[in-house]
Amino acid sequence: MDLNVFRRRLLPTPKSTDQHFIVGVPRISVKKLGITNMKFMKILAVCFVVLPVLVTVSMIYRNPRTDRIGGFAEARVFEVRADKAVPGSGDDSSRSLGTPKNELLGGLIAAGFDDQSCLSRYQSALYRKTSPHKPSSYLLSKLRSYEDLHKRCGPHTKSYNRTLELLKSGQNAGPTDCNYIVWISFSGLGNRILTLASAFLYALLTNRVLLVDRGTDIADIFCEPFPEKSWLLPMDVPFTSQFSSFDQSSPHCYGNMLKNKIVSDSIKSVPSFLYLHLVHDYGDHDKLFFCDQDQTLLEKVPWLIMKSDNYFVPSLFLIPSFEQELSKLFPQREAVFHHLGRYLFHPSNQVWGLITRYYQAYLAKADERIGIQIRVFDTGTETFPHVMDQILACTLKEKILPEINMQESVVAPPKNVKSKAVLMTSLNSGYFENIKNLYWEHPTMTGEVIRVFQPSHEEHQQTEKKMHNWKAWAEIYPP
Ligand SMILES: *[C@@H]1O[C@H](CO)[C@@H](O)[C@H](O)[C@H]1NC(C)=O
Repeated sequence: MDLNVFRRRLLPTPKSTDQHFIVGVPRISVKKLGITNMKFMKILAVCFVVLPVLVTVSMIYRNPRTDRIGGFAEARVFEVRADKAVPGSGDDSSRSLGTPKNELLGGLIAAGFDDQSCLSRYQSALYRKTSPHKPSSYLLSKLRSYEDLHKRCGPHTKSYNRTLELLKSGQNAGPTDCNYIVWISFSGLGNRILTLASAFLYALLTNRVLLVDRGTDIADIFCEPFPEKSWLLPMDVPFTSQFSSFDQSSPHCYGNMLKNKIVSDSIKSVPSFLYLHLVHDYGDHDKLFFCDQDQTLLEKVPWLIMKSDNYFVPSLFLIPSFEQELSKLFPQREAVFHHLGRYLFHPSNQVWGLITRYYQAYLAKADERIGIQIRVFDTGTETFPHVMDQILACTLKEKILPEINMQESVVAPPKNVKSKAVLMTSLNSGYFENIKNLYWEHPTMTGEVIRVFQPSHEEHQQTEKKMHNWKAWAEIYPP
């Protein structure tokens, strides 16, 4: 996504004085086919939308009147114009499932994976047009050399076994040929996707191997992104059972050790592992992670164990020693997540089944597909009329949805009537019911047929539940 085409504007503040609306309307002129809708909390994550998104709307709403403090709502709207045949659209004769042209996503993904164990890896390209954001050749070569490193240093390799001994003994015996960044599975799925991408970029920048704590469900959600060697942290690694209790006051926490002057720049022998606390509640000492001189110290630590719920890629850009490498990897800064997301995150077969079945059943045949995501924080299942008003104001004003005809109850169907499929994702069903009823109770001014769907409404976030996360991932990643 190009920030030049990323417009923000404020909608008029509503009359009641104790409400504040912040509405960002990023416009993306990506002429691609596919559909997506995001549960991600950060605008930057929209870069993941490699897809045919014409309009994105992000809206944050805060309602201080409610007792439940922080009544935040967030909505994203994606308008997608299908201008090319997709599987299941009834016109896929020109494309055969076996030979997608762009299956390696412009060289981003390595060839030669077993495609049966991860159907989405090569099939997702069938649903999308080529990305307008070309990965730099430097990024591609960096990814290939990362894959070599991962092969050489991945779980149970000779180097891994040797470095694991250091972790077990707590001794640091000088430079090691493989160093690791361990990502702890923490927070909701959207946040985990963002932090994993951030941790991977950190691994690329520091020549570390990314190993992923499997939490309860990581292995069921994502395919393995690297060839041959797993990215999953082996179960027998010390401390894995303590990951959930790691926090800013843990004895191995880097920020805590700095605070207590247990480590400093001038320290001679650095520990064999450190815990990095990059969660939203982190303190000033934890944030020193983003300083050059701290990076110099951390370089010597073979095991870094990280917990975060922040998309910290932008902070990496602020570290002077990473600057040059980052600009070579990503000449187009805004596309970091776009590329890394497409490289790393491939839905598992179970999730790919949810995605493609839903797509074929409800979305494929429409002339146009629109995604709307509503997220209202900490408000249970309540549907707020003012949030509803905002959704309608935005979608009508931006001509994402057609105006309804209040004068007539029946309009003669014009010839070649167009259909739009609206995919609404939300934890509750109220907004979906409202929009669906609106277009059932009234005809549209344009005569267009509006079909509104909601795959699931799970009422509240259930971070640890398998099917919940499968569905969440399926809704984040419609083809
Ligand atoms: C590394 O250690 C594991 C478990 O102790 C063992 O099964 C494996 O063969 C070792 N790898 C090498 C290359 O020696």
